[in-house]
Amino acid sequence: MNKTLRLGIIGCGRVAFHHAKMLEGVEGIKFAASCDLIEEKAKKHAETVGSNSYTNYHQMLDKEKLDLVVVATPTGAHYTHVKDILNYRPANILLEKPMVLRIAHGLELEALAAQKGVRIFPVYQNRFNTAVQRVKSALVNGELGDVVLATVRVRWCRPQRYYDLAPWRGTFSMDGGAHVNQGIHYVDILRYLAGEIEEVNSLFARLGAKLEAEDTGVSIVKFKNGAVGQIEITMAARPDDFEASVSVVGSKGLAVLGGICCNKLETFSPAPADQAAYSEEVPIAYGLSHRKVYQMIVPALLEGKPAPVAFEDGLNTIRLLHALYRSNEERRWVRLDEQVESKRLGEDNEKLLAQYLLQADQGVKG
Ligand SMILES: NC(=O)c1ccc[n+]([C@@H]2O[C@H](COP(=O)([O-])OP(=O)(O)OC[C@H]3O[C@@H](n4cnc5c(N)ncnc54)[C@H](O)[C@@H]3O)[C@@H](O)[C@H]2O)c1
Repeated sequence: MNKTLRLGIIGCGRVAFHHAKMLEGVEGIKFAASCDLIEEKAKKHAETVGSNSYTNYHQMLDKEKLDLVVVATPTGAHYTHVKDILNYRPANILLEKPMVLRIAHGLELEALAAQKGVRIFPVYQNRFNTAVQRVKSALVNGELGDVVLATVRVRWCRPQRYYDLAPWRGTFSMDGGAHVNQGIHYVDILRYLAGEIEEVNSLFARLGAKLEAEDTGVSIVKFKNGAVGQIEITMAARPDDFEASVSVVGSKGLAVLGGICCNKLETFSPAPADQAAYSEEVPIAYGLSHRKVYQMIVPALLEGKPAPVAFEDGLNTIRLLHALYRSNEERRWVRLDEQVESKRLGEDNEKLLAQYLLQADQGVKG
């Protein structure tokens, strides 16, 4: 591989600096441009990665020949920003989680990217944690047998001051609740390991703070393969984050993933010695697997190799989240093949969104 891919980023907030760290040492790609509406943030990121800084992403796209653009803006703005980039100056996109808040928006972006001849890569980095990969291989090669029961359990602490940090936090339009913002990685790992879900029955609540969406919920799920499962997520644990785990009971054994982001293989009955061998220490809950995502994206773009996570696969996790929301809204079992969206998740809120758009005279569409 001779070419070095030129990477730009839109949104130089918390996760952007993690991308900076994770890109260190990855061959075939380097930061060329960093953009944030807030000049100070763009400059700080640019200084960190040795790139050019911008406050207007149209200007960034005009001036830099970018092979890949990371969209790391607030979740509720992802759809608008990606659509605008694809219409303005199409580029391949690495789209932070949650990729979009509405299924219809995902389908629209997928079609637009195909029309423009570019790819959108969703980020679900925790799938590539060493521990998660070990369990995946045990399910593929039969070591764990058939899935009987699979469970997500997230017990974290997000007090009122967290939701008060910014007006978009915990809103249906820009963020979603505990299942979408914080729980999405584990809900995605559940699907990734135990298979597609056929129907769900959820009960959500706000129990630890005042926010628009839920901070707590329990759901019963039935998988297409006949297995059953449970999703239990709360941000109302106090005084700390205690647990983010996914467990799989197979017909031949048990696997429990734990740590702060499924970075530890806590129980692995087929080969207990693998518990330590496949567990990693991680400094923060973002984990270390954005690096693996980049290592897969370089050959995906240079050699046409598969994406780390296919767009449709990533969108299926958004479909599952909508089914959970809809079930709670209507107090009934919801089948995934109903293809229904939540009445609230991803709703329009032009006032909140407006603060993330470029000025009208700078030409943002849609
Ligand atoms: N994969 C993960 O584990 C992970 C971890 C954290 C955050 N995220 C996701 O990354 C996204 C960003 O999260 P964050 O915590 O970094 O948020 P943040 O609020 O710290 O940063 C967002 C940045 O986007 C900038 N921005 C908004 N509109 C813009 C525009 N039009 N042009 C340029 N910049 C713009 C804001 O000024 C802000 O600096 C969210 O979708 C979040 O869910 C993913």
